Amino acid sequence: MTLGRLDGKVAVVTGSGRGIGKAEAKLFASEGASIVVDDIDDRPMEETVREIQEAGGRAVGCVADVTKAEDAQRLIDTAVSSFGRLDILVNNAGLTRDNLIARMTDQQWDIVVDISLKGSFNCIRAAARHMMKPNHGGTIINTSSVVGLFGNIGQANYSAAKAGLVGLTKTVAKEWQRYGVTCNAVAFGFVDTRLTREKETGEEVMGEKVGIPKKVRDNMMQGVMAYLLTPEDAAKPVLFLASPDARYITGQVLNVSAGAFI
Ligand SMILES: NC(=O)c1ccc[n+]([C@@H]2O[C@H](COP(=O)([O-])OP(=O)(O)OC[C@H]3O[C@@H](n4cnc5c(N)ncnc54)[C@H](O)[C@@H]3O)[C@@H](O)[C@H]2O)c1
Repeated sequence: MTLGRLDGKVAVVTGSGRGIGKAEAKLFASEGASIVVDDIDDRPMEETVREIQEAGGRAVGCVADVTKAEDAQRLIDTAVSSFGRLDILVNNAGLTRDNLIARMTDQQWDIVVDISLKGSFNCIRAAARHMMKPNHGGTIINTSSVVGLFGNIGQANYSAAKAGLVGLTKTVAKEWQRYGVTCNAVAFGFVDTRLTREKETGEEVMGEKVGIPKKVRDNMMQGVMAYLLTPEDAAKPVLFLASPDARYITGQVLNVSAGAFI
């Protein structure tokens, strides 16, 4: 039997009911990790757990809203109560609420910053007491975006949150280096999920449609959107960062945009 790259490891992937997080959870499980599948929505969360188990993997589900500190703690503690430890935390939950700055509402700003930035902080802080134990260690991967590195019209909230994650990543890397904990970020370009599909026919998420307006998207298809990744493509570099191969990499931002943003 060949060994998986994450054999014996325990991972929490936030927002893994759909999209990139789901692909990461399934890939990690196929490489031998035990997974805590988190989502704010119970049905997609249950679906990911079922798919992992049917493929012969180990997974438990946890409905937790990462913007709430008590939910984040319960999520992290689920890894320890279910599988005995926590080795890998992927802060993936995120959302878009696009608008031009002059028109952006407080709610649009707050929800995006709360989920991506504060949500990641909540989970990292909750993981402290497990990962900082003597001879334990661990690895954390934060989900940034090329928009956090380059900015983007209509995404002041999202670019600020994703840029904030870069600072958070480097700070965790410095503070927890002595505990054997690494922390890196991935900056994705465009990945084919409900956040990048046509807005007009797209899904409503927490009271607003997500996606990119058809006209804008059609224009983008000639340029950067031609570099659209599948969630499964996006998950592979995250597996690398989560694996022992990346043991000596910390505080870095990995650009995963197929060359669309260099
Ligand atoms: N799709 C892209 O092109 C792209 C590009 C760059 C970065 N990203 C980032 O990748 C991550 C995943 O995005 P995606 O495209 O897979 O989106 P998605 O909407 O398909 O999946 C995100 C999941 O997170 C869950 N979620 C939302 N708020 C939550 C909360 N408060 N607590 C727990 N779960 C919550 C959602 O229910 C959903 O299942 C996000 O951080 C996003 O910003 C995506």
